[in-house]
Amino acid sequence: MSDPQSRLITGIGELVTNDRDGGGFAAMTDAALVIEGERVAWTGPAAHAPAADIVVDAAGRAVLPGFADSHAHLVFAGERSAEFAARMAGRPYQAGGILSTVAATRAASDAVLRANLRRLAGEMLRQGTTTFECKSGYGLTVADEARALALAAEVTPEVTYLGAHVVPPEFAGDPAGYVDLVRGPMLDACAPSARWVDVFCEDGAFGADEAAAILAAGQAAGLTARVHANQLSPGPGVQVAAAAGAASADHCTFLTDADVDALVSAHVVATLLPGVEFSCRQPFPQARRLLDAGATVALATDCNPGSCFTSSMPFCIALAVRELGMTTEEAVWAATAGGARALRRTDIGHLAAGARADLILLDAPSHAYLAYRPGVPQIAAVWQSGQLAVGSVP
Ligand code: NIG
Ligand code: FE
Repeated sequence: MSDPQSRLITGIGELVTNDRDGGGFAAMTDAALVIEGERVAWTGPAAHAPAADIVVDAAGRAVLPGFADSHAHLVFAGERSAEFAARMAGRPYQAGGILSTVAATRAASDAVLRANLRRLAGEMLRQGTTTFECKSGYGLTVADEARALALAAEVTPEVTYLGAHVVPPEFAGDPAGYVDLVRGPMLDACAPSARWVDVFCEDGAFGADEAAAILAAGQAAGLTARVHANQLSPGPGVQVAAAAGAASADHCTFLTDADVDALVSAHVVATLLPGVEFSCRQPFPQARRLLDAGATVALATDCNPGSCFTSSMPFCIALAVRELGMTTEEAVWAATAGGARALRRTDIGHLAAGARADLILLDAPSHAYLAYRPGVPQIAAVWQSGQLAVGSVP
């Protein structure tokens, strides 16, 4: 329901608006912003702010768009802290660990999965994430994938069918049979609850031809493609994403020059997930190389119990600045407008008049503090669709 009262946030030390029409990072100082209902109605100099029903004084602090986390796996049961500890003791990350979460997820009740999902969604919101994508991929039967997507759809419109996460144990001797299931009956059961189709294209998961076939079937069912690509080694994932016209290729850790060219020319967003490299002790993706080539870069958490169990976009921003060669402006843009691009959303990721009123009040004077003070809670308040969702300002 829209709220009849207008809200003025004034005294904003730095208002990060981003450019509505696809430009880069944009901000103004000594600013104000008016929310009417679910939307941003006005932004401009605080000295020219119009009157409003409710006034919030930001007292020199920064306001920025809510984070758009375009890659997360939140429907699961159990945890894998022992696997993480083993990795830190020297064992490599392997896609096979996913199967232990599959077993725990299949065995869990709807109530357990829903409670875990809602706990993680709340965690994200308190850290400034106002839009998140959520994948299936830990069910891997028709019923369990459909259940995961129905649960995800309770908490976000950005629901992704990832039946092609790994081949489940009961199909170990017949991977082609599993691909047929994923692009046939499983897709039929899942497509009505999903917006996106995703494939983990990697050695140990799905090859180029399998991935292309699954994406094509998903697209024929009305879904839009995104791909887990080039995470663990160089491979065909990025090229598959480009050929499919995917919205995003995610991970992009091991790229050839031809992969970078393909991302740029096919307008596929490169979604970088630096929490994964942090949590798997792998080389970080080369954001600088992508940006200098003209690629659109997004940042997301990949929150999942295996390769990276963070729900924190501020943490990913700090990693992107420190380890990926991004400026503070580029990292904040990638976590807001970049995520919006990866989700093909024009209503979020910026704060121009007409945008959805998803915004963060930082307990700091500028966006740079997100990287300057890593690990420090700095989210003073969050508005989601114009409603105060976190914090206690008026
Ligand atoms: O994006 N790469 C594949 N899927 C996840 C990991 C899932 C897991 O380890 O449980 C990822 O990193
Ligand atoms: Fe992932």
